[in-house]
Amino acid sequence: MPDSQAGTADAASAIFAALDELREQFGGRFALAHSEQALREENAKILGGKGELTAILKGVGAAPAERRKAIGERANLLKQEVEKAFDERLRALAQEKRAADLHARPFDLTLPGRPLAPLGHKHPISIVREEIVDIFQSLGFALHDGPEVELEENNFTKLGFPPDHPATDMQDSFWTTSGHLLRTHTSNVQIRAMSTHRPPMAFIAPGAVYRRDNDVTHSPMFHQVEGFLVDENVTFADLKGVLTEFCQRLYGEGTPVRFRPSYFPFTEPSAEVDIGCVFCKGDAAKQAACAMCKRTGWIEILGSGMIHPVVLEACGIDAEKYTGFAFGIGVERVAFLRYGVPDIRMFFENDPRLLAQF
Ligand code: PHE
Repeated sequence: MPDSQAGTADAASAIFAALDELREQFGGRFALAHSEQALREENAKILGGKGELTAILKGVGAAPAERRKAIGERANLLKQEVEKAFDERLRALAQEKRAADLHARPFDLTLPGRPLAPLGHKHPISIVREEIVDIFQSLGFALHDGPEVELEENNFTKLGFPPDHPATDMQDSFWTTSGHLLRTHTSNVQIRAMSTHRPPMAFIAPGAVYRRDNDVTHSPMFHQVEGFLVDENVTFADLKGVLTEFCQRLYGEGTPVRFRPSYFPFTEPSAEVDIGCVFCKGDAAKQAACAMCKRTGWIEILGSGMIHPVVLEACGIDAEKYTGFAFGIGVERVAFLRYGVPDIRMFFENDPRLLAQF
């Protein structure tokens, strides 16, 4: 049949129809591809060796010879259109991705976390001061603050220092040009608290103090914790009870404690409190060579006494009715006994090699 040899007009029409249909579709199909990979897959489905266009053109042998050229031209045109659309969509996708990257969060949530910066830690003097304050707070003492720049009367006069007492000398204290001084002890808080509070009272007052000293055991700035209690019928037995309890809690049950007569202008009687040397611990052989307690077996840790009636009266408290005791603890001394730091100045040089050890 010559007709079938030459192909049929129907077959040619079917190929044109199929090409037209593909031409209608491909734009929409590319638009639905939202990744480069999806786009490339779609493109391969249309133009690939086993793709739809190839499949359509397989039927070209069934079309009349004179139509084949037109089919070829139409197919080529379609192929060019598809390629152009593919390139455009590819470029659009790249731009979309870049825009999305630019608007994305400026950090990558998928990165592993970084280790926290080291937090640092407390200075040994703070550790010891807090420990001392904790013990007295648990015994019922309340915190009281006081200034480091003080009036002479609060630091000396009302505490019973005579005007010519050596401590008041320019050589021993730091005076400001306006006639104030850096407090030489925390006992100024006694005067301030007793002038503003009525008994009963029990306060603890930690803080920095200043003296013109600078050697292995003295620093021009150091720390004390002042404590005092005023009420009716307070006796020396109360002082001994509270301070013995404190020493036992700080240095451990069974630590030897002794009260040694002493003198302060603002207490009477006065006592220095010693604990059994924590280095030689009563071992006679060690004690004979112990530089820490100077071979005595005892180490002084605080000064104390019954508040002098003159001091109570200077603060407007009836000394006939009320009595009280007071004490002052050297924080560096306690820290030295705890940590064995050989030179008090090392506490304030802020050498990280020392500080990192606490
Ligand atoms: N303020 C005295 C000092 O610095 C210590 C002390 C305080 C003594 C309270 C007795 C009572 O040496």
